[in-house]
This record gives sequence, structure tokens and C-alpha cells, in this order.
Amino acid sequence: MVENYDTFFCSGKGGVGKSTVSSAIGVKLAEKGYRTLVVSLDPAHSLSLTFDRKIGEKPTKVVENLYAVEFNVEKEIKNYLERVKREAREILSPVVLSEIEKQIELAYYSPGAFDLATLDLMYRTAILERGKFEKVVFDTAPSGFTVRLLSSPQISEKWLEGLINLRKESLKYRKMAGGTEVESDPVVRILRKRLNQIRELRKLVFSPRTLFSIVVNPETLTVEIGRRTLLELRNLGIVVRLIVANKIESKEELSKIEREFKKYRTEFLVIPKKGKEPKGVESLRSIAFGL
Ligand SMILES: Nc1ncnc2c1ncn2[C@@H]1O[C@H](COP(=O)(O)OP(=O)(O)OP(=O)(O)O)[C@@H](O)[C@H]1O
Ligand SMILES: [Mg+2]
Repeated sequence: MVENYDTFFCSGKGGVGKSTVSSAIGVKLAEKGYRTLVVSLDPAHSLSLTFDRKIGEKPTKVVENLYAVEFNVEKEIKNYLERVKREAREILSPVVLSEIEKQIELAYYSPGAFDLATLDLMYRTAILERGKFEKVVFDTAPSGFTVRLLSSPQISEKWLEGLINLRKESLKYRKMAGGTEVESDPVVRILRKRLNQIRELRKLVFSPRTLFSIVVNPETLTVEIGRRTLLELRNLGIVVRLIVANKIESKEELSKIEREFKKYRTEFLVIPKKGKEPKGVESLRSIAFGL
């Protein structure tokens, strides 16, 4: 089934096997001949563990066709804010700039900074790296965070549209006094650029070529959180098409999970519980069997 998609997201409660399943999907795609990138957006060095080798901050080759990258989100936040500052420097007077720079420093510690930087990273990898990779698999942090993150393009979009309108309003008055036209205004230009990026990301999230999957285990709590995530994503308009039942030891465990998710019409993928942790390409290949 993996051939039908170009972008993959694995969600689920902490520890259910998201990194393991994302890596296994990557192994499977690479074996089928697709140039594939597995991306970790998780501060823990999860892919270095699943692939059992050091994965860098730049795409690192694992085997033929398979690359993986672990972003250092903290560093990316700094880079992101630097980029924002650079853009501000281009358009603002030095007096306003020093005030804005203070605010940007403050933003570094704001709760939304992590989300915005992660979104920016997602945009850059999923859309800008598209030319280099045919398939991109995102290994995300646990459920709540992913849902919040995926709802932020909608929120940011509204926010940016609001800012653009405000700027247009103020330009209207300035124009009366002989100021700039909306079309040549650098602030509007930058805001529009940002808005377009967010729209691209939204398109990606809603694309029929993007697969959202939820990983669950036999434990009731993982199933409960999985179900809640599926409904939260659905509220955002995102359809979960695959449930990965991981660490399964008996038929009973599997039928319980299938019963819980039947009404959501998802596909199921079953991965048995292995005697030892699936690490390295060989082990991952053995669990990628049904993908
Ligand atoms: N099918 C399996 N059989 C045995 N062990 C497994 C299986 N799948 C995953 N594991 C093990 O379970 C642990 C958690 O897996 P993993 O790190 O992939 O989960 P995660 O959902 O990414 O966790 P986190 O939420 O911390 O990112 C790891 O030690 C992994 O090797
Ligand atoms: Mg993980």
C-alpha cells in the first residue's frame, strides 16, 4: 500500500513504536526503489536508535535509496528566528528594528516558537526537498503535540491574513499621503510569502497522497489515545487511513484493536512483538513485511 503515498506521518502515544514503524516504512520504500527520506522532528535521537547508526542533522545515507535526518529543533528555532530578523532588517528602520529584535529574542522563549520552527522545518523538508526525494516519512513526537502542530497551519493562516489586511488598511491611509502601493510594499510581500508557505503545507497535509497512520499497542491506554487522536485529526479534516497494531502477541489482542477501530474504516497493519527490539535495517525489514 505504501506506493500509493508520497508523504507519511506516524502518530500515537509515547513509546508505541512510531519511530520504529516510520523507519520500517522507509526501509520498505527504499527497497521498492524509491529515493526516501525519513525525518525525525523529535528532540530525542530516535532514528539513530532505530537504524542503529549515527544519523546527522543533514540527510545521512543509511542504505541504497534510504536517507535519514534528525533535526536539532532547538538550533532550528534559533536559525528560524535569525531568518525572521534578517527579513525584518530588510524592511524596517533601525529604531523600529532594535525594538523588534528585542521582541524576536522574547519570541524565542514563547510557547509557540517550537511549533512555528517545527512547521518551518516540515515545510522546508517536505516541499523544498521534494526534488531530491520521492518519498518523505515524518517520525513525529507523541500524539498531542502532532495534533496541535497540524492544527497550527489553519491558525497561522488566519493570523497572517489578518496581518495582511491590517497592513493594507494602514497603507491605504499612507497612500492618501503619497506613500507606497500595496503591491510594492515589502511587509505585504513577506507576509504573503509566509502565507503561501503555510498554504503549501496545508495542501500537503490534506493531499490524498499523504498517509496518516496511528500506531497502537495491545494496552488499552494506547488504543484510547489512538482513537482520540484519530477523532482530533478528523476534526481538523485529516483522514487517518491506517492503524498499525504493533507489538501484538495474540489473535485476541488484534481482534480487540480491530473492534475498536472498525467503524473508522481504516486499513490495518499488524506487527508482532519481537523477542528483541527491532534495530537496524535487517530487523526493520522483517517487520516491514506487510507494508
Ligand atoms: N514490534 C516490536 N517488537 C518489539 N519491540 C518493539 C516493537 N516495536 C517497537 N519496539 C520497541 O519499543 C520501544 C519504543 O519504540 P519506538 O522508539 O519506535 O517508539 P516511539 O513511539 O517512537 O516512542 P517515543 O514516543 O518515545 O518517540 C523501542 O525500544 C523499540 O525497539
Ligand atoms: Mg519516537
